Amino acid sequence: MRNTGAESLYVIAVLLVLFSASDGVAALEVKCDSFTPGQIWKDNNGVHINAHGGGILIYEDIYYWFGQHMAEGRAGNKAHVGVHCYSSADLYNWKDEGIVLEVSNDAESDIVKGCVLERPKVIYNEKTNKFVMWFHLELKGKGYSAARSGVAVSNTVTGPYTFVRSFRPNAGCWPVNVREEQKKPVETEKVKEKKFSGGPDATLKDYNVLGRDFEGGQMARDMTLFVDDDGKAYHIYASEENGTMHISLLSEDYLEPAGKYLRVFEGRWMEAPAVCKRNGKYYLIASGCTGWAPNAARSAVADSMWGPWKELGNPCVGQGSDKTFGGQSTYILKVAGKRDAYIVLFDIWRPKNAIDGRYMWLPLQFTGEGIEIKYLQEWDLSCFE
Ligand code: DGJ
Repeated sequence: MRNTGAESLYVIAVLLVLFSASDGVAALEVKCDSFTPGQIWKDNNGVHINAHGGGILIYEDIYYWFGQHMAEGRAGNKAHVGVHCYSSADLYNWKDEGIVLEVSNDAESDIVKGCVLERPKVIYNEKTNKFVMWFHLELKGKGYSAARSGVAVSNTVTGPYTFVRSFRPNAGCWPVNVREEQKKPVETEKVKEKKFSGGPDATLKDYNVLGRDFEGGQMARDMTLFVDDDGKAYHIYASEENGTMHISLLSEDYLEPAGKYLRVFEGRWMEAPAVCKRNGKYYLIASGCTGWAPNAARSAVADSMWGPWKELGNPCVGQGSDKTFGGQSTYILKVAGKRDAYIVLFDIWRPKNAIDGRYMWLPLQFTGEGIEIKYLQEWDLSCFE
């Protein structure tokens, strides 16, 4: 008995040494080789990945995942830390690259701790060699009324990113498909007094919200970025009190709107846009407008970013598809080096304890003109072969 006890102690001591030595940790590190939607997804340190509402940039054969860092509790939905980045060569295993854009301690800063900083996306500009980040920003203490776009920039992919400015895009510009009546002077009092909740409101059509925001810039909440094969980049955002989306061309350096934009899905109340291109067609996936609660996804197709966009309905099929299997879209990733391999990234929000939010990555299937997404409990990239 005494011998067995000593042996056990010896084994425990050896294991402890192995765990505490960095080589030992590496040797015992559990590698992932599949996606398990909705489960805890651990990074190289064994910590649940904290990059919500995120997007992915492929740079020099490495995937970089950028997303909002959420904290504990309900207050954790606000930005107390910043934008978190992870890197991976295989999409399953992610290394923590740290906080690449920190929120500020300066009360005067637009990105002061406690602001709302959501859905960050990073794109690389080949002409300027800069990494450019855009995000949805709400000023601290102002709810969701600011509806601004934030821009940050870095010379290196993993930052640190320097905050440039925040603004409402396309001030003083009419969209390419503006209607003549929208250009008429707005009934300022009527439209200014009207309070919108951010969710569907049948009276929206009675107010010229586009005209109201012409001078100061258009509202920009949920957003994504998309870079086309010709290097042109687009900012796609929920605008006009969330009722209508805008597709807005970015300047050559990607730092500001180029002044050309399109209104799409008028009065459809869509959020969470994500865009991809396949065989010359552009596909958009989005959600309805129900806060953090899941709803049925939307999709659309077009031959050009400038439309016309044709809605295709809910791309999700099977049990749970009426609520997007509990998720909300944030990005569509084209897997490097594989033909027709696209992954839709969804968030499963946990607004009561934001840090516990989960990810649901699912393969996108193309069916004739349409697209389809099925829920899978576990899957891997071999499904694209
Ligand atoms: C839905 C949006 O898609 C999220 O990014 C977030 O802004 C929540 N609304 C807040 O309620």
